[in-house]
Amino acid sequence: VSRDAPARSAPPEVQVERMFDRIVRKYDLMNTLLSLGLDRWWRSRTARVLRVSAGDRVLDLGCGTGKLGMLFVPRRATVVGVDVSEEMLHDARRQHGAALELARGSAFRLPFADAAFRGATSGFVLRNLVDLPAAFAELARVIEPGGTLALVDITGPQDPLLRKGFDLYFRTVAPLLGALVGQRDPYRYLSRSLEQLPGPEGVRELLQEAGFARAEARALSLGMVTLWIAERP
Ligand SMILES: C[S@@+](CC[C@H](N)C(=O)[O-])C[C@H]1O[C@@H](n2cnc3c(N)ncnc32)[C@H](O)[C@@H]1O
Repeated sequence: VSRDAPARSAPPEVQVERMFDRIVRKYDLMNTLLSLGLDRWWRSRTARVLRVSAGDRVLDLGCGTGKLGMLFVPRRATVVGVDVSEEMLHDARRQHGAALELARGSAFRLPFADAAFRGATSGFVLRNLVDLPAAFAELARVIEPGGTLALVDITGPQDPLLRKGFDLYFRTVAPLLGALVGQRDPYRYLSRSLEQLPGPEGVRELLQEAGFARAEARALSLGMVTLWIAERP
C-alpha cells in the first residue's frame, strides 16, 4: 500500500516549542477566528469517540491551553495534559487551575509508565511532529490494552477543487490575521504545516504500523479535518 508522504517534514521539536511559546497569548482567539468557530465542534467530536469512564486516566498529548482535555472533566476522568511548550502549560494552568494534571514533556519521550492511561487524545498536534512513528509508538506504549485513541488534525479536503479553495484561504487569511496580532511568521508556519502531515490514509497506516488495531480515518467538515480513531489491542 502506498503512503501519501508529506510534502515537507516538520521542524525540529525545539523550534516548534519556541514557536508555540511565542503565540500563546492570542492562541485561543486565533483558533476561533481561523476556523470560524469550528474548532470547538472538532474537539467535541474527538472527545466523544474516546471510550472513557469515571475514574479513568486520559492523556491529552500536546494539550496546549487545555481545551480538548477539559472536555473529559465532566465525564469525571482524570485528565493529564502534556506539552513541550512551558508557556502553553502556564496558560492551561491559568485557565483551568487544578482541573487538569499538567506535565511538560515530549511526544517522543512521554514521561509516563507503560499502560498508564485508559485512552489518549490529541488536537491539532500531529502535523508539528517531526517523527510521527516515534510518537505513535509512545502512545501505544502508554495506553493500556483495550484502550482507545482519538486524534484530530487539519488535513484539508481531498477533493481537488475544495482543496484549492481551502489552501487559498489558509495561505492568505492565516498570515493576515497573524499580522494583525503582530505574529505573521507563526501563522505563515501554520499554512505551511499542513504539508507536514501525510494524508488521512497515510496517518492511518502509521497507526497500524505502531500496533494499533481498528485504525480508522473519519473526514469531518468535508475533510478539512480528519479524526483518527484506533484501539490498543
Ligand atoms: C496547535 S497546538 C494544539 C493545542 C491543543 N491541543 C488544542 O486543541 O488547541 C499544538 C500543541 O502541540 C504542542 N507540541 C508540539 N510538538 C510537541 C511535541 N513534540 N511534544 C509535545 N507537545 C508538542 C505545542 O506546544 C502546542 O501546544
